[in-house]
Amino acid sequence: MAKLQKKQRKSLAHDHLEVVRDQYEDLPYPPRNPEDDNKRLVTTYGDSLQVISHRGFEGKLKFDKLRVLTAGGGTGDATIYYAEQLRHYPDAEVVYVDFSEHSMSIAKRRAEIRGLTNIKFVHGSLLECKNLGIGQFDIINCVGVLHHLDDPDAGLRALKEVLKPEGVMNIMLYGYYGRLEVYMIQDTLKLLSKNAKTNQERVELAKALLPALPATSLMVQNKNKWMYELKIGDGAIFDLLCHPQDRAYTVPQIKEFLEQAKLQLVAFYGKTVARTKYDALHQYSKNPAILKHIEKLDDWEQLALAELASMPTKHGFMCTRKDVVKKEIKLAASSVVCFSLATVSGRNVKGIQAQMQDDLAPLSIKFGPEGENIRLGQFNRKSLETKFLFEIDERRSVAEIYEDMKEKNEDIAKMSLEEFIKMAERIYIPLESLDILCAIEKGTGLVRRWDSEKHELVDELEL
Ligand SMILES: C[S@@+](CC[C@H](N)C(=O)[O-])C[C@H]1O[C@@H](n2cnc3c(N)ncnc32)[C@H](O)[C@@H]1O
Repeated sequence: MAKLQKKQRKSLAHDHLEVVRDQYEDLPYPPRNPEDDNKRLVTTYGDSLQVISHRGFEGKLKFDKLRVLTAGGGTGDATIYYAEQLRHYPDAEVVYVDFSEHSMSIAKRRAEIRGLTNIKFVHGSLLECKNLGIGQFDIINCVGVLHHLDDPDAGLRALKEVLKPEGVMNIMLYGYYGRLEVYMIQDTLKLLSKNAKTNQERVELAKALLPALPATSLMVQNKNKWMYELKIGDGAIFDLLCHPQDRAYTVPQIKEFLEQAKLQLVAFYGKTVARTKYDALHQYSKNPAILKHIEKLDDWEQLALAELASMPTKHGFMCTRKDVVKKEIKLAASSVVCFSLATVSGRNVKGIQAQMQDDLAPLSIKFGPEGENIRLGQFNRKSLETKFLFEIDERRSVAEIYEDMKEKNEDIAKMSLEEFIKMAERIYIPLESLDILCAIEKGTGLVRRWDSEKHELVDELEL
């Protein structure tokens, strides 16, 4: 299993956690077969450029000279996705840093298979970012990495040193409450595997333990949550259950984590409805007796309360330097409305339209790979808001859509542009709040989508 013998491994200046590096040399995570890049693109939600531009840069981020860092880039998911989105911008660059040579070799092979030449691969520790000669970045991705460091606070501060003044970081840390059963199994395995000498022995023990657990085990009660990780191979089982260095965060701990580095939260994110996991007002919306207490809490307290109810297993969030002024999210005449999820495209919208046989049936939208069904009861097929939704093509600005719709709809012809924007916002705002829609400024970048039939990213969408 070990691809590199320990003594052959290149020593790194700041190698605090040999044991963690050895693990990722032995078992790169997530396990990826580079050949799969011939037939699919892994799109990681928090790394969609239009979403980052929308949330972190008021939709004004220019893609053409972007510099992106993937710190602890692993087997390459986010790196490849950024590089694909930036393929047509010769002055943009993605820099990958990881201290596992084995993981880096997999990420490199994936890039080769795709013919991507816009990635710089650097073997090194993220704690040394400033001394790696890699420059400063508009976007830093560090997903599933900092919670494996000896001193995660120092890791965050090291990343901040290479963040441009207006830059955005996309971080993912484990969620404490959502992973309680994982830590109970980790502790069980620590006791059972005291004499185990290799990682493979520990994985084998974990595989033997799971079916033997008594019904009282929290893991047995929550096993559905971990199905995916437990079926994708030994690397994932080890990462989940045998990790030698793994800590999780509560929301108040994330607040402290950001504060010590003088950073501020932009937003937690998740796949589609996952954002409601951080919305206590939404969670208790049917309980006025509770709601009136929640309304008195500040933003962080509300987030903490929401986490206690929804128990996310991971906290994905964007942050900026503390002095960056938070921008309001609104729709303008020059906004191009886009779908937040990379896997959502105009084709899905057409699918929704086809499903809506009845003109007066409430609008119900199935989005995302998990196909969550969202009902927007106030709109039906005939409503102007729904008609606007079907016009979204990720190319035309709101003003351009207005001009086109005026030609074919007399109600819209009677509206001013300002009235049209207000109407569009009635559907845009709820869908934005669920992370289904976002908006970027016309002319800042090209949205590219995965075409599952042609197995490639396409620039143009047919609606
Ligand atoms: C769980 S994997 C996540 C990989 C990737 N970010 C993803 O989401 O697919 C953690 C990665 O971080 C790397 N890593 C951990 N500590 C690091 C450090 N101090 N410097 C560089 N890489 C590190 C490991 O080698 C491993 O590839």
